[in-house]
Amino acid sequence: MTVPVYLDCDTGVDDALALGHLLASPRADLVGIGTVHGNTDAAGAAENTLRLLTLAGRSDVPVAVGAASPLVGDFAGGAVAVHGTDGIGGLRGSLPRPACGPVMEDAADMLLRLSHRHPRELQILAVGPLTNLALALQRDPSLVTRVAGVTVMGGAALVPGNATAVAEANIVHDPEAAQITVTASWPLTLVPLDATMQQTLDESRRLRLCASGSAFARACGQMLDTYLDFYERVVLGRRAAALHDPLAAAVMLGEHRTVTAPRVPVEVDCTRGPCRGQTVCDLRSQRRVRGDVEGATVRVVQDTAPGYADLLVEMLDRV
Ligand code: BDR
Ligand code: CA
Repeated sequence: MTVPVYLDCDTGVDDALALGHLLASPRADLVGIGTVHGNTDAAGAAENTLRLLTLAGRSDVPVAVGAASPLVGDFAGGAVAVHGTDGIGGLRGSLPRPACGPVMEDAADMLLRLSHRHPRELQILAVGPLTNLALALQRDPSLVTRVAGVTVMGGAALVPGNATAVAEANIVHDPEAAQITVTASWPLTLVPLDATMQQTLDESRRLRLCASGSAFARACGQMLDTYLDFYERVVLGRRAAALHDPLAAAVMLGEHRTVTAPRVPVEVDCTRGPCRGQTVCDLRSQRRVRGDVEGATVRVVQDTAPGYADLLVEMLDRV
């Protein structure tokens, strides 16, 4: 049994890993991809995605360019220090030219169309800023009734942010869109930094990817070089990097076990102060009893079983 999946991404080194996980999974039927501003501009993210799909022999998957800027304000210019100037560690030029271009509709319209084609079956995986999802909800609020589930890589519940003291990059790049998305009445799983910073890929695994029989896995190994440089220099002080986006794919598909993941009320700070973009997860109830809060629709994944990096390397080997 496969589930139809719409991927919304800002490709991005770890977005490429998430794409690889989805392509390798026997559980996922990737029916469409929308791109968004974030790690790079939305058109550049589409170009990266199309080249990666061509490398994987999967040019059949349609790619739509989405929002070029957040609901409020302008495109922040991309995460050049983390993902390189092209978003994928300088590898764009060495990937094959795309077999086809992006489709004519924008990402929000693609999402709405797919929700009609796969009513109550479609799973949404969003691993970039949430602008496309918010636009789709604004264009047609009944979208919430046609979607089986939404999984978002984003936020920081009880750990520091990575873009500001309290905010994670995907959320702070469009807090207004994030607030619309997390407060919509659909079942949403948030995979925040609390979980993703615990799953890291080290240099030995990167070298395994570089030596893989799969051209896609080798490309991932190469683009991870830049990413690990950044993590070593700025984040962890050792040559390893967090597997944010692919972990969210694995959680969505039930291929990597969550440990603590209660449903609790979540709001996004949309003020102009120092907490802008913070995901305020109300975990007070968890002091008393671990479990879901009645009426809450957001499942906050606080941690997952160890060892996801090994599963990811195996998956990428299969692409
Ligand atoms: C998130 O921000 C982006 O830079 C990554 O691709 C990931 O989606 C991590 O904070
Ligand atoms: Ca991303």
